[in-house]
Amino acid sequence: MAFLSDTLSRVKPSPTIAVSNLAAELKAQGKDVIGLGAGEPDFDTPDHIKAAGIAAIEAGKTKYTAVDGIPELKQAICAKFKRDNGLDYAPDQVSVGTGGKQILYNALMATLNPGEEVVIPAPYWVSYPDMVLLAGGTPVPVEATLENSFKLTPDQLEAAITPKTKWFIFNSPSNPTGAGYSRAELKGLTDVLMRHPHVWVMTDDMYEHLAYDDFEFCTPAQVEPGLYERTLTCNGVSKAYAMTGWRIGYAAGPKELIGAMRKIQSQSTSNPCSISQWAAVEALNGSHDFIAANNATFKRRRDLVVSMLSQIAGVTCPTPEGAFYVYPSIAGLIGKTSPGGVKIDDDETFAKALLEEKGVAVVFGAAFGLSPCFRVSYATSDEALKEACTRIQDFCAALT
Ligand SMILES: Cc1ncc(COP(=O)(O)O)c(C=O)c1O
Repeated sequence: MAFLSDTLSRVKPSPTIAVSNLAAELKAQGKDVIGLGAGEPDFDTPDHIKAAGIAAIEAGKTKYTAVDGIPELKQAICAKFKRDNGLDYAPDQVSVGTGGKQILYNALMATLNPGEEVVIPAPYWVSYPDMVLLAGGTPVPVEATLENSFKLTPDQLEAAITPKTKWFIFNSPSNPTGAGYSRAELKGLTDVLMRHPHVWVMTDDMYEHLAYDDFEFCTPAQVEPGLYERTLTCNGVSKAYAMTGWRIGYAAGPKELIGAMRKIQSQSTSNPCSISQWAAVEALNGSHDFIAANNATFKRRRDLVVSMLSQIAGVTCPTPEGAFYVYPSIAGLIGKTSPGGVKIDDDETFAKALLEEKGVAVVFGAAFGLSPCFRVSYATSDEALKEACTRIQDFCAALT
């Protein structure tokens, strides 16, 4: 009898975490490494939110809470959905978990049976396929091409749906591409979903507030109210509020699904951290002024990175609508050789050689299900970005 479970053999460790670890290891050896792998803002949590956490500790709000969230936070979440998305949810339609990650995981665990399929546009956030596998389902990745700005077309969605499809996972603005769907583009997809009443929609709106220029965020149940009864609208405070370490994510959807998610959470982690929940109440109800300031910084950095990477022959770098990532293609560099003698066969060899020869850590596209590309996170200082992009330019120019 094997000690480790069969389930474990179905999943792989997070490649983004692996890149961060390798970069940290090289740094510890004294190498000059710039990490562009971070999946979190480099800003600090705003003071008024920190103060709410401190006040919660001092007021003794340090005990177990209701499994899927305190009533005050559920109220704040209902108000947020109404204010930002025009969606009406009651507190018993809301679930709060330890990060957006746990919320998505709970929903998949609560609903998937062996053989059931989940349609996932690629490139995707690394955890979606593995979470589906852990829950016993079958991920069905569908490649959204660079030519279509990394967005799935209605025809592609139509072709991917089978009688076994249980969920369609939607993420806009996206990790890893930053691509954001306009209302018209999203309506094209929701029209397809309206023709397939057995398919549920899991929308991951984690980057809702990180959008630039005139991009207007919208979410499936808002664009197509006919999907409300079979949509789980997921969100969280990690990215927009610079609260990744506090671990609060949430979702709203049909009561029965929310109850099933609560059951999973009650037998695994119980409630998310009580102190973090009170900080999240302040995040959602308090001032949002800092978001515009943060976004101005992110937009400036996005424009810097896109402009510097676009100057490289063989690299195509689209300008994304949101998040803090860009996803350039290196199709024009495949087959070349680096000064260190590495043949660039694919995006993984590219990323490895770039790290070893120039000390720049990026995540290769295969990790996100679409090659040959790499992901740059621009959630780091302008100086570090300038230096890193100069090194990438030099590395690419020296390929023969
Ligand atoms: C698209 C997407 N969804 C969900 C998450 C998870 O966020 P959290 O830190 O709240 O678990 C991330 C984090 O990287 C993400 O990029």
